[in-house]
Amino acid sequence: MFPALPHPPRRIPILGDIFGFQAETPTQSVAKLARLGPIVEFCVLGARYVVALGAEAVIDLNDESRFCKYVGPDIAALRIIGGDGLFTAYNDEPNWAKAHHLLMPAFSQAAMRRYHDEMLDVTALLLDRWDDRARTGASVEVSSEATRATLETIGRCAAGYSFGSFDNSAGSADAATPPFVEHMVSGLKGADRVGSLRHTFLPEFFARWAERRVRRDAEYMHAVADDIVARRRAEGPGGRNDLLDIMLESDLDAANIRYQLLNFLVAGHETTAGATSFALYYLSRHPEVVATAREEIDRVWGDHDRPGFELIPKLRYVRRVLDEALRLQPTVPGYYRAARRDTVLAGIHPMREGDWVLALTASLHRDPRWGDDPDSFDPDRFAPERVRARPAGLYKPFGTGERSCIGRQFALHEGVLLLAALVRRYDFIGDPDYRLQVQERLTMMPRDFRLLLRRR
Ligand code: HEM
Repeated sequence: MFPALPHPPRRIPILGDIFGFQAETPTQSVAKLARLGPIVEFCVLGARYVVALGAEAVIDLNDESRFCKYVGPDIAALRIIGGDGLFTAYNDEPNWAKAHHLLMPAFSQAAMRRYHDEMLDVTALLLDRWDDRARTGASVEVSSEATRATLETIGRCAAGYSFGSFDNSAGSADAATPPFVEHMVSGLKGADRVGSLRHTFLPEFFARWAERRVRRDAEYMHAVADDIVARRRAEGPGGRNDLLDIMLESDLDAANIRYQLLNFLVAGHETTAGATSFALYYLSRHPEVVATAREEIDRVWGDHDRPGFELIPKLRYVRRVLDEALRLQPTVPGYYRAARRDTVLAGIHPMREGDWVLALTASLHRDPRWGDDPDSFDPDRFAPERVRARPAGLYKPFGTGERSCIGRQFALHEGVLLLAALVRRYDFIGDPDYRLQVQERLTMMPRDFRLLLRRR
């Protein structure tokens, strides 16, 4: 016999654990339940979630021979926007394997070289914009600034498309968020709502009502993707050899190309924007880390106007800063895993074939095996000798197995380049009274985090 899973206190009939979490920050509320046990259960209006919080449970779920990706309720609802694109696809959909093999080379080291120049151009636009802020003494709202940069980067790299994120924005305080981002944020939040509602015992009517809004956002986003594809077709594909060219020259069908493009535009910028923003938050609180990073950047980058591709991987300390920010604040806070066959998770939770669990990385990333003070920011945790001394599997910001992040190298190259360019140019002055708040949509971002900048 296995013991029942612990659940939050104050469970009540019908509504379940509704008092056990905050609707605006569900992941953070559930992560706090780690004190109850390595695997907890959470029920709201009949919707049951089993959540793996303890390191051993998450590590066990990463066993690809027994578990595979599960498209959870919120991701299933996201298919209204992303269809059978890579992130939202079911494991057995033929387009997943087809697109995965087709697009892997677009994320190789060689491909990354091609994206480097675009990344430098976008970084230069961000620096121009921030120079202006530094001159006028206006602060920057970091998450939206990072989003502006990463959206522009993925648009240009994946599809040669500019969202115009920096057009006419230099003089204005906080120029408007690009409409694509507005629809995306609304669509992500809406899909989360639809997924949750559909999983409850409430009549389908409620989910369908919430779905109407997501469909409106999807319509806008589909039109953007279709416009990008139409422009490229008119221009004649083949000249750029980017993700879009690769897809247009393949036998992927038109609907799937639209969905893949949207998967990349969404998954390829939110996450990196969050990671860079959290890194800037920690840097603003750790002048000693800035000093070490700056010493490296000055030595490696030096006076180059445009650092070459091969300089970026040499910024090893900056990379550690990013790795450590992703440890403390994994911007994709978890992933769903389903049992391939009947099994027992972590020796305590029996699962039937197809049963699923949400794996959260927050406690995995703060397991005592990270050291005495796992809550503190210390980039040297990622020094090679300390990485070697730690058990594998304690760090999973990019997911696991064959459905793990295809854009990992892209994100790391872009994140390191952006951070290095910013640290090289500015002193960051944070509000000492600011307490980090994390906003949740599908991904995590600092909320209302502002910095004043001083040019060095
Ligand atoms: C710091 C930045 C990033 C983080 C933390 C991150 C995290 C993740 C995670 C955890 C998954 C697995 C999700 C699951 O198992 O359900 C994933 C998948 C994915 N990511 Fe990322 N990601 C990042 C950047 C990117 C970028 C830059 C791109 C594209 C250029 C991208 C494209 C994708 C795609 C397409 C998938 C689905 C892969 C598949 O299932 O075949 N990601 N990412």
